[in-house]
Amino acid sequence: MAEKLIPITLKVNGKEYKVEVKPNETLLFVLRNKLNIKSVKGTCYRGECGVCTVLLNGKPVKSCLVLAAEADGAEITTLEGLAPFGTLAPIQKAFIEHGAFQCGFCTPGFILTAHWLLTNKPDATEEEIKEVLSGLICRCTGYKQIIEAIKAAAKYYKQDKQKQ
Ligand code: FES
Ligand code: FES
Repeated sequence: MAEKLIPITLKVNGKEYKVEVKPNETLLFVLRNKLNIKSVKGTCYRGECGVCTVLLNGKPVKSCLVLAAEADGAEITTLEGLAPFGTLAPIQKAFIEHGAFQCGFCTPGFILTAHWLLTNKPDATEEEIKEVLSGLICRCTGYKQIIEAIKAAAKYYKQDKQKQ
């Protein structure tokens, strides 16, 4: 018997997608393989590495742990949605300026998590930055440059908050 498909709607980076998913398909699988959003990647597929991190209704989640059907109606932001095409968000520029990546495999998860932290708490301390990053693994850069980049980007988020 054919497996039942569930129709869902996802708003990804401001664009609405209607897609049919299997009950056991993860948000990671659907974003990457059905919507072709390639910044979202998987390594461990069990919540340990964080490379699959996306913002779900504004909060970072590990998309390998979320069933796509559970995300029906949600707003998702991936790295592609942080800044208009052809431009970079301040946190992305800071990662470049501070050499905060090497292979780049983990970078979308770090940048989205840092963006969420600085949007909500632009004056986050180094300890708070480290705590938020604790669920993310980078195997090649080292965390020092990543933390420096996040601290450097904080001033842009503070300015944005003051304008609000
Ligand atoms: S692939 Fe999701 S946490 Fe590793
Ligand atoms: S930049 Fe290579 S794993 Fe983080």
